Amino acid sequence: MPNALTELRFPEEDAPASSARLSPDTLALLAERRSVKLRMLSEPGPSQDELAALLKLAARVPDHGKLGPWRFAIIVGDARARLGAALARVISEDSGIDENRLEIEAKRFTYAPLCVMVVSTAAPHPKIPEWEQLHSAGAVCQNLLVAAHAMGFAGCWLTEWPAYDERARPILGLKDHERIVGFVSLGTATQPVTERKRPDLEPRISYF
Ligand SMILES: Cc1cc2nc3c(=O)[nH]c(=O)nc-3n(C[C@H](O)[C@H](O)[C@H](O)COP(=O)(O)O)c2cc1C
Repeated sequence: MPNALTELRFPEEDAPASSARLSPDTLALLAERRSVKLRMLSEPGPSQDELAALLKLAARVPDHGKLGPWRFAIIVGDARARLGAALARVISEDSGIDENRLEIEAKRFTYAPLCVMVVSTAAPHPKIPEWEQLHSAGAVCQNLLVAAHAMGFAGCWLTEWPAYDERARPILGLKDHERIVGFVSLGTATQPVTERKRPDLEPRISYF
């Protein structure tokens, strides 16, 4: 979508921005968007230029204190198999892990053309609770999914055990205070998707 990219305008600080804008396309996208299972993601994925634009779009999130308490690590090309193999080695000695599971683990990042590891860098701050810093990183993941969708790519947001296993941390290059908010894989869906069950909103909405 070269036009969509060239027409993107990222306002400079203090330049006019947008506070409201009728966009039926955006509403329809939000109404219909679905994630796609990791194994149903394939080539093509975002080009370098598209990825650069996606990261800029993803990073345009509410962020209390303007701390930018998140960072991206891109898993692409040969690194996908390398990282998968390294993670598989982590659990190879665990009980109940057979060859089949190891093979699946090693392929984790090889289905989608690329994966964006979104890391929360939230840290203690005199004014901004870490809880809020973490929310900003969650918003980054969702912005990334929505922006990728609008660029014509499918995606999914997963965590799974590598996000929580201490042994995976050095392999993923995490500093002590950092946490993985999501592995957002992007590519093209190999099959059509259908809608999933959505939470019933009625009991979740109240008015004061
Ligand atoms: C923080 C977070 C972590 C998730 N981790 C997993 C996961 O590890 N495995 C999984 O099957 N789904 C996981 N999901 C759910 C998937 O993203 C799921 O496909 C998604 O909820 C589908 O919803 P959608 O089609 O409305 O995007 C996670 C979701 C979130 C928000």
